[in-house]
Amino acid sequence: MALHMCSMLTLFFSVVVFGNGFVVDGQSDLENRLASLESRFNEMAESCVYCPDSSHSVKSHPAFMAALSTDLNNCNNDSPVVFKNVKLNVGSPYDARHGTFRAPRNGTYFFAATLTAKPNNGFHVKFVVNSLTNEVGYLFSDTQHSGHFERSTSIVVHLNTGDDVWMACVTGGASNVIGGYSGMQHDYHSHFEGFLVD
Ligand SMILES: *[C@@H]1O[C@H](CO)[C@@H](O)[C@H](O)[C@H]1NC(C)=O
Repeated sequence: MALHMCSMLTLFFSVVVFGNGFVVDGQSDLENRLASLESRFNEMAESCVYCPDSSHSVKSHPAFMAALSTDLNNCNNDSPVVFKNVKLNVGSPYDARHGTFRAPRNGTYFFAATLTAKPNNGFHVKFVVNSLTNEVGYLFSDTQHSGHFERSTSIVVHLNTGDDVWMACVTGGASNVIGGYSGMQHDYHSHFEGFLVD
């Protein structure tokens, strides 16, 4: 009797679980639903920046951070500030030779910078997009401080593919900033970083 009950249960579950398989219409319904899921999944994978096998995964999710590898002395007249000590460069959007970040696609981007002034020295630097006159951010310190002085700022900007963002000293004032000391905590006195938000 127990064996019989067991067989009945097995048959019952077979019908419930595989029931659709016995019905021609049910099977085609399952196939349709699977096809619809498959197509929805492909659409999502196509637009998903986090998917590892998506063609734009890394390129669409750039991030970088670079530190100043030497002191910046008497920087003036729109000279670029080039952060040569690259800490992170996901998708290689940052060019350490020129200190420029190039947007791999249209989107909203976040950038930040921290600079440390020497005692009794200041700095005036700007963030620019493509040209020196296209200023999108500003970071400064005046000279009235007897110790080292660290300052930070951050910006959010819209960029189109190929736009370059970099930092430059402002015309008219000498900027003096601490850099260098690679491998030590001092390495983080002055740095520039950014990433794609969306
Ligand atoms: C990026 O933006 C530019 C300027 O608005 C536009 O012409 C271009 O079609 C956009 N590219 C994409 C892939 O959306």
